[in-house]
Parts: sequence; C-alpha cells; structure tokens
Amino acid sequence: MKCRVCKGPAVIDVRRHNANFCPEHFLKLCRDQVTRAIDQFGMLTPGERVLVAVSGGKDSLALWDLLLDLGYPTDGLYVGLGIGDYSGSSADHARGFAADRGVTLVEVDLRETHGYDIPTGAKSARRAPCSVCGISKRHVFDRAALDGGYDALATGHNLDDEAAVLFGNVLRWETDYLARQQPVLPARNGFPRKIKPLVRLGERETAAYCILAGIDYEVEECPMAGGNKHLGYKEALNAIETTSPGTKQQFYFGYLERAAARFTAGEDDTADGVDLSPCGRCGSPTPGEVCAFCRLAERAARTQPVVAPARRVAS
Ligand code: AMP
Ligand code: FES
Ligand code: ZN
Ligand code: ZN
Repeated sequence: MKCRVCKGPAVIDVRRHNANFCPEHFLKLCRDQVTRAIDQFGMLTPGERVLVAVSGGKDSLALWDLLLDLGYPTDGLYVGLGIGDYSGSSADHARGFAADRGVTLVEVDLRETHGYDIPTGAKSARRAPCSVCGISKRHVFDRAALDGGYDALATGHNLDDEAAVLFGNVLRWETDYLARQQPVLPARNGFPRKIKPLVRLGERETAAYCILAGIDYEVEECPMAGGNKHLGYKEALNAIETTSPGTKQQFYFGYLERAAARFTAGEDDTADGVDLSPCGRCGSPTPGEVCAFCRLAERAARTQPVVAPARRVAS
C-alpha cells in the first residue's frame, strides 16, 4: 500500500477517495478537508474566536486540534453530564488535551450549575437520555458561546453523524429538521453561529487522526446511548458504504447541493414560523413563556438522583 501523494508506505486507506496515505499526508488530508468545509460553507473567517464543544471523544478532540493547527483562537467547552465513570473519564481526556496544548477548557457541570444530571433528568422527564442530553447540551453550548462573546460554536459532528441524522429525517420526512440540517447555522434570534467543520471527514478518519496526532481520547461509548436510533441508521449506511464506497458522502453533500434549499425555502426569522421571545427564567429565545430547557431543569432538580448505568465498551 503506497501513499497517493509521496509513494511512501501508507498506513490508512480512504476508500471513499480511492486512495491510501502515509501519516504525514493523511494528517494533511484531514487539515485540507476541514479548511475546505470552512471555506465551502463560510463557517469562519481568519482570526474569529471559536468555542469548541469537546466531549473527550475522538471527533471533538480532533476538531479542537485541527482548528488550533489552522490558527483559529479557540477555547474548549466541556459539559459534565453526570453519567457515572464515563463522564469522569471523558472529562479527564478533555482536561489532558487542554493541559498538553496549554489551552483553556471551560467546564460547566450540569448538577453544580443546574441541579440535575442526565440519568436523573431522563427519569424525571420520562424521555430517552439522549433527548434530555441533547436539550441540556444545546442550552449550555448556546449560553457559554454567547456569554463568552465567541464568534462561533463548533461541534465535532462528522460525515457519519450527519448522514445518519439525514437518513433518519428522510425516513420520517421530518421537514422542519431537514430545513435546519446544515453544516453552518448563522447567528440569529439570540442563538450563536453553529458550525460543524468535520462534515467532510468520517469517524474512522477522526479516530485515525487522533492516533497519528498522538491525541489520547475516550474510546468508550456513552452507556446511556443503547437503543439510540442513530446507531441503527449508522449501521445501515455502513452496510451500503461497504459495497458502494462514497455513498454516504453523495447522500449528504447531494442533499446540501440539490435538495436542502427546497426545505429551507420559506424559513423566516422565527423557529417553525412561530415568534420567539426571551424565556422568563433564562432569557433564551423560546416560542413559549418558559423554554424547554428550564422546564426540564426545574422538574429534574426536584427529582431524587439516580445512578448511571455501568460502562459499555465500544464495539
Ligand atoms: P453527540 O451529541 O454525543 O453525538 O456529540 C456531538 C458533539 O457534541 C460532539 O462532537 C461534541 O462536539 C459535542 N459534545 C458531546 N458531548 C459533549 C460534552 N459532554 N461536553 C461538550 N461537548 C460535547
Ligand atoms: Fe448524552 Fe450519552 S452522551 S446520553
Ligand atoms: Zn505520503
Ligand atoms: Zn429558559
């Protein structure tokens, strides 16, 4: 196996590009793909300050490393979700990265700041943990990005994540979600700009990036994610990708180029055509009087804490 660029010994094949790469040129490929995504979708201009949401996993730590490498002034944001050992170990990976690079990691612990954790929030809301986790993280991300005066909030969503979410939204024809499934959402209505600079890289590539760049990341999966529909969608897309490499990329980028505009047409400055006003508790924009996050947090804070399930090793 030879590197496409220098013909030296290759360490990874990227079937979607029908090419193999040596460590140096694979790391360059990742940087180039992130630069291309940032330019293609107008995510950032040079010098803009970015808050990178880091979970301690491979995607978000690779993202932070890549943005630092590309010269963007960035801080990390870690949200303590209170999911037992998993959260403790994820936090250690995020802190280790920040200490090694001498960069700032902002930490927000859900229980300390809002009086609940994800296992307790899921029980009190009688909802899937991932849905409670999503509402909680979005709220903390938005607040931290706005309060810190950052130009954008970046998350580590990669091509596999975005293709799986798109697949799920298409299967159920969730047209509102389809309208918002973009690699960049401009700042508006009191929400910060949100960017996903890893959309041109798959999760196998972000894992390889971390290994080759010497980044120590959390390899375990969240123990509460079992039964999450997206895992099933990822498996289905992986099965197709095995026989037809490049399908995921065509599906996702084909959607953005040729179909997304049909769903965004008619979107105005409101969410789903509903006027937004500041939440009576936290001030975040909401269609009601109190936002979904504050309703969830108030109920969860009154609930007896529950213990998170034991660790689950990634397959
Ligand atoms: P997930 O929703 O777990 O698929 O994660 C998507 C993205 O959200 C990750 O790539 C990170 O950028 C961010 N993220 C997930 N968990 C955390 C966390 N505990 N703290 C900060 N950011 C996170
Ligand atoms: Fe959110 Fe597992 S990380 S439920
Ligand atoms: Zn090479
Ligand atoms: Zn609120």
